[in-house]
Amino acid sequence: TFITIAALIFGYLLGSIPFGLLLTRAAGLGDVRSIGSGNIGATNVLRTGNRKLAAATLLLDALKGTAAVLLASQYAAELGLWAGFGAFLGHLFPVWLGFRGGKGVATYLGVLIGLAWQVALIFAAVWLLVAVLFRYSSLAALCAAIAVPIALWFLATPQLAALFAVMSMILFIKHRANIQRLAAGTEGRIGAKG
Ligand code: G3P
Repeated sequence: TFITIAALIFGYLLGSIPFGLLLTRAAGLGDVRSIGSGNIGATNVLRTGNRKLAAATLLLDALKGTAAVLLASQYAAELGLWAGFGAFLGHLFPVWLGFRGGKGVATYLGVLIGLAWQVALIFAAVWLLVAVLFRYSSLAALCAAIAVPIALWFLATPQLAALFAVMSMILFIKHRANIQRLAAGTEGRIGAKG
């Protein structure tokens, strides 16, 4: 319906704001796409050496997902889901950057906070555990993305589990270069400069 599409577009527009790019540019660090993995996310912003900027990128990229969900669900509860999905797609495929956006981990988490915050805690726990053990941001995100649809199936609704299963699949596709590097043993560790 029209209102569903409107929620999707609203979420997309919020999600397509590339905070990592904007913050690093504003800080005079140049184009974050020219360092490390070339990604615009918090992990790659950290490779500039600026921790505060990386934390701000993580926070804002997550917050745009949460905001899309919460604002749209003010109108009607089921719209939150569509706006959240839109925000995720907006981060990954922003029209402003020729549809070449980020990998979606922070925004995925932000949408999850808006839709099922208890499961967002599970995401955070799995991410932190894997990150502490192996120091790979990508591996931590991929493990968390496997856990989330399963946790939603048992703790929330089949509908939410299905939505996040789709988002996790997209996340894996976006991480294919990381997966190849992990397999080859050449993936950059968290905190190592690029
Ligand atoms: O969130 C992105 C992370 O999973 C990997 O980032 O820059 O190492 O490709 P990056």
